[in-house]
Amino acid sequence: MLRIDRHLTDDDLAKALRSDVVEGLASRPKSLPPKWFYDERGSELFEEITRLEEYYPTRAERRILRERAPEIAAAAGADTLVELGAGSGEKTRLLLDALGGAGTLRRFVPVDVSGGFLSEAAAAIGDAYPGLEVHAVVADFERHLHLLPGGGRRLVAVLGSTLGNQPPAERVSFLSDLHSGCTEGDSLLLGVDLVKDPRRLVAAYDDARGVTAEFNRNVLAVLDRELGAEFDPRAFDHVAVWDAEAEWVEMRLRSRAAQRVPVAALDLTAEFAAGEEMRTEISAKFRREGVAGELAAAGFSLDAWWTDPEGDFAVLLARP
Ligand code: AVJ
Repeated sequence: MLRIDRHLTDDDLAKALRSDVVEGLASRPKSLPPKWFYDERGSELFEEITRLEEYYPTRAERRILRERAPEIAAAAGADTLVELGAGSGEKTRLLLDALGGAGTLRRFVPVDVSGGFLSEAAAAIGDAYPGLEVHAVVADFERHLHLLPGGGRRLVAVLGSTLGNQPPAERVSFLSDLHSGCTEGDSLLLGVDLVKDPRRLVAAYDDARGVTAEFNRNVLAVLDRELGAEFDPRAFDHVAVWDAEAEWVEMRLRSRAAQRVPVAALDLTAEFAAGEEMRTEISAKFRREGVAGELAAAGFSLDAWWTDPEGDFAVLLARP
């Protein structure tokens, strides 16, 4: 029982990349949205990041889910798990197992922008959970939330602190869109990374082996391949800084020298001054009161909050 709905074609993605890059290179400071990190190489590098000593969020979240999945399942009482930014990994399985154990599970709805990745994930879960209805949706979850299948009682999961890649106003509008699609009985499961010692935060985004640096520079290789750009990734340094005011970690690429970079498909040449920095990602860190406030602004109420023993990461359940 496997179905895939496609709301996003390769052509849509190509157009979105072009307009993001035109806009980002024209901004001051220059910036690129983090969603373009994740081509095949970028996804591999991200997997490697999640295994780094310095990168604690994945481990912390997995630990919370290992301990709390049965409680989450009991509180949600859901027959459908919707996962935005879909996985087939351990976190997904912990939730499916717990909903199965509670006797309510009927359907899994993985949602992702990458059709290839999604069909693999959907097939893997379909094989591992015979009888489970798998309804995969290829969609941009900043634009297509109203197209997600409804019905039944849904647990909508946004894990991995994905929420933190957006600035506060966009988070609230994303949560409000999610809220409009919810009916009574649905619940929202969010994983959020918490504010902590800035040294640990920066180390998580600037690891000793340079995996995150390579992940960051990989976005330039994506532009070279997809847009015929002529970036030399080695001409840029990886930068990770903690913005104490905004409470986010910012990743940047800093041009080592003055350079002009042609981008053939866009018919433009980007100019970089020596030392000029281009923003590639924000990764916001949260506090309980702040999360509760953003949820409330979007119409949700915070129902339960679990952290790992160190208080590094939180998983929370909210209701519409
Ligand atoms: C998966 C997007 C939440 O922001 O921590 C890891 C991505 N960037 N290292 C994060 C990421 C640099 C990650 N998210």
